[in-house]
Amino acid sequence: MANTQTSPEAGYFDKDRSAEIVNARMAAGTDARLREVMEVMVRHLHAAVKEAKLTDAEWMAGIQFLTATGQMCTDWRQEYILLSDILGVSMLVDAISHERAEHATPNTVLGPFYLADAPHYPNGSNICLDAKGEPLLVKGKVSDHAGNPIAGAKVDVWQTNDEGFYDVQQKGVQPDWNLRGVFTTDENGEYCFRSVKPKFYPIPDDGPVGKLLTALGRHPNRPAHIHFIVTAPGFEAVTTHIFAPDCPYLGEDPVFGVKQSLVAEFRKIDAPIDKASAGADGANWEVEWNFILSPLP
Ligand code: BEZ
Ligand code: FE
Repeated sequence: MANTQTSPEAGYFDKDRSAEIVNARMAAGTDARLREVMEVMVRHLHAAVKEAKLTDAEWMAGIQFLTATGQMCTDWRQEYILLSDILGVSMLVDAISHERAEHATPNTVLGPFYLADAPHYPNGSNICLDAKGEPLLVKGKVSDHAGNPIAGAKVDVWQTNDEGFYDVQQKGVQPDWNLRGVFTTDENGEYCFRSVKPKFYPIPDDGPVGKLLTALGRHPNRPAHIHFIVTAPGFEAVTTHIFAPDCPYLGEDPVFGVKQSLVAEFRKIDAPIDKASAGADGANWEVEWNFILSPLP
């Protein structure tokens, strides 16, 4: 397919017109959206290289970084998504893709540790299978914009254990499916489960992204949180977290996943939820968290 250049000279390299020349090489029949995105990307990439006055050595260091990032990827380790996360791009793309009513529950990053097909439990069940941590009761309601309860909504939850690891990071150490489960809201739109109070933990930092964080003087610790995916027929799925308000890393999430409206109140309660599973100091916690789903467009 012919490109849109008018003469051979128009395609010769010129530093000042570099982005324009590259973009003019696209064929006339290029998919309209691909054209739009590539034009913007090429324009901004060339502008960035010019503004930073990149040297050969710096450019090569960048290429080597991207190469190492690709080499770190496996079926269960996606270093490029991690890179997108620490650059704030994952959150930005999500914010652009999922504009919601102000009072609807917002999304935040999915992260790499979600597993589909977690066990389905009756409301009130305990998802902590390793008996570590401070017992926590999580309960709440799923409703629509008008406050009507949504019965039969699925509340899929996952979190790290008291040592800051997901079950998939400690195969053979933690029981499979530790701290994961799917709950179904009852006729009042209510769900309820028992777990343990979450703690902060580092994002995987043994690869190129971890090295970049260190070089930038940034730490890898995600503030303490519990992940949720809430789904119901006819409603937009919500992929989100709730954050513990007393975590020292709340304002420094390496993946920029914290939103004010997702910081929950974790209430310390006097009477243990269940004496047998209370923590060493008898501590018990309770959090009430309601989800508001938006109708599908
Ligand atoms: C997580 O919370 O599981 C997570 C999110 C983004 C990057 C790494 C981990
Ligand atoms: Fe997490």
